[in-house]
Amino acid sequence: MTREAGPPAAAPFEVLATRAQVTDAVERVAAELSTIYEDDVEPPILVGVLKGSTLFLADLIRAMPIAVQIDFMAISSYEAQAEQPSVVRIVKDLEHEITGRDVVIVEDIVDTGLTLAYLRRTLLEREPRSLRTVTLLDKAVRRIVPVELEHRVFEIPDVFVVGYGMDFQGHYRNVPQLVAVRDLPRLAAEPRLLVAPLFGAPQVRGAR
Ligand code: IMP
Repeated sequence: MTREAGPPAAAPFEVLATRAQVTDAVERVAAELSTIYEDDVEPPILVGVLKGSTLFLADLIRAMPIAVQIDFMAISSYEAQAEQPSVVRIVKDLEHEITGRDVVIVEDIVDTGLTLAYLRRTLLEREPRSLRTVTLLDKAVRRIVPVELEHRVFEIPDVFVVGYGMDFQGHYRNVPQLVAVRDLPRLAAEPRLLVAPLFGAPQVRGAR
């Protein structure tokens, strides 16, 4: 008995940006930031929001030919309860005093804006000299709170993204590309699904 061929299964993922495209775009934003701070007496402090922004922060500062310092914050968010909006909490705070300093929040992705709004409020209470935000990805269509966002590398539609620091259930932060996942249930069932295709493709190995 021959099996009927059904319609081809939709690819479970799509590469939004190759490693080379990410590098070019990050360098453009690094140049914007360098111009802003190049004449400052004290270097800006770039604050990476753990863990998703780590790869972006590493590439960003290597493309900034000015003095910079870095620090990290980790936050966790609780699901929204009926009687209160989603609550964000600091689980690792900065080591630097930021009063009087130029501070740049480095985010992986701004989605609803709740996390960034909380971070900005919290850091502004410490009276920095200035506060700006740079995000790798801006899902502007999903915003539920308006929030200032001065620099973005890519604006993206409402898709779930992994790779280049971003995870799904703890996996895929090391995938070099930015990947939109179409089939999250399949990814949950097969956590290695993206590894071979994305590390194995010759054009990927040859990418910067
Ligand atoms: P927001 O508070 O809704 O803006 O959420 C920001 C955080 O949600 C990000 O820092 C990510 O940790 C997470 N997030 C939102 N969208 C995605 C995605 O597409 N992939 C991975 N993490 C995401």
